[in-house]
Amino acid sequence: MDDTGNADDATGHTLWHGRFAGGPAEALMAYTVSLPFDQRLWPDDIAGSRAHVRGLVRAELLTDHEADAVSVALDRVAAELADGTFVFVESDEDIHTAVERRVTEIAGAAGAKLHTARSRNDQVATDLRLWCKRELSGVAELLMELQQVLLDRADAADGVYLPGYTHLQRAQPVLLAHHLLAHGWALGRDVDRLLATVDRLDVSPLGAGALAGTSLPIDPASTAADLGFADVFANSLDAVSDRDFVAEALFDLALVGIHLSRIGEEWVLWTSEEFGFARLDDAYATGSSMLPQKKNPDIAELARGKTGRLVGNLTALLTMLKGLPLAYNRDLQEDKEPLFDSVEQVGLAVRAVTGMIATAEFVPDRMRSAADAEVMAATDIAEWLVRDGTPFRDAHAIVGALVRRHLSDGTSLQQLVRDELGDAAAQVVGPGEGVRRRTSPGGAGPDALPQQLDRYRAMLAALRSRLSAG
Ligand code: ARG
Repeated sequence: MDDTGNADDATGHTLWHGRFAGGPAEALMAYTVSLPFDQRLWPDDIAGSRAHVRGLVRAELLTDHEADAVSVALDRVAAELADGTFVFVESDEDIHTAVERRVTEIAGAAGAKLHTARSRNDQVATDLRLWCKRELSGVAELLMELQQVLLDRADAADGVYLPGYTHLQRAQPVLLAHHLLAHGWALGRDVDRLLATVDRLDVSPLGAGALAGTSLPIDPASTAADLGFADVFANSLDAVSDRDFVAEALFDLALVGIHLSRIGEEWVLWTSEEFGFARLDDAYATGSSMLPQKKNPDIAELARGKTGRLVGNLTALLTMLKGLPLAYNRDLQEDKEPLFDSVEQVGLAVRAVTGMIATAEFVPDRMRSAADAEVMAATDIAEWLVRDGTPFRDAHAIVGALVRRHLSDGTSLQQLVRDELGDAAAQVVGPGEGVRRRTSPGGAGPDALPQQLDRYRAMLAALRSRLSAG
């Protein structure tokens, strides 16, 4: 560094050095570099450059010979980045700069033509869309594995039932299968949303240049097709400034996080001694450094606790975007860390929760005895009266009075029902009766379950074929 705080030259030029008399201050570089976090875009940056080179050949801006030299250089750069031998220099502001610098070192004059009719503004948007297509599809795939585990455990749950809750107060019995699938349906919507986000972002911005296109005879549509994009931008200003896809991705991921958090909260409760509905496998539980007896549901807790940062990432991105005039502004560089963090964290969370649920042991006796409290039959008794023509509101009051007596003097509710309403009504009360009576379509009982299982399997199959078609 010289006495102006100049960080240039010893390590090479910035891409934009021509216009500047001196090099950038170290403080500027330290503040503005994105290389530490955008390095992971290198495979997409290389892919984008390869397609761009082919486009330059078609536009006769690069000879076949020059294109070969650049392609060989790109191969070498890719190999260096893949095996960790790539040497970054101080002037490498970001991955795009680093790749172009190295290509030019290797390919000389031909390399210096790589950035023809291209700006880092359309380049970074292209890279990020390619990255999102792959990574969001990857999250969708992981989520489907969790959906499958929920289905497998539901399939094997074989009539086990537990209390369903409202206000976290026992309400009506539900099949364990039904409860597990409830989360699976929410995850199905998450997968659907992620795939829809991928469909919407599948538009190439390459060829928009810095903001307004170029005077050179490029054809963005053929480069888009070359890169496997479904479509090409129509407006260059929009192409380089649009980060809707990042906002959508962050929302999708935040909602996945919220669903995992709700699952996590239940598993914290279920594995507590108070509930005792499930036991975690040792491999998916943690111990306490001080309390030898402890077995803790840390995965479930972090699935709950990490949601804050997922929501925070979405909030950060939206806040960054809100005041930006067209087109590219350096602010947009702040799109990456939230996105990378959310994708990484959700991936880790889904894998951990999947393993936790796949290996846990349910405790059917605890579930059943919690669900077999006589009062859980209250609605069914009222519905029994309804079948005989009693208006539901009246039936509700009659049963409410019986429940009050049961709770105040401890007389069995079944006995009270038998005394007041007769034997047939009393049969509504009893172990397992309540869940058996949940017969309406989509309901929580065994009669409705097969249809739900069919629909769930169909939903999963449809999502899987969308993913593999994408
Ligand atoms: N690192 C930058 C980003 O992530 C790349 C684009 C830079 N463009 C520019 N005009 N400085 O946004």
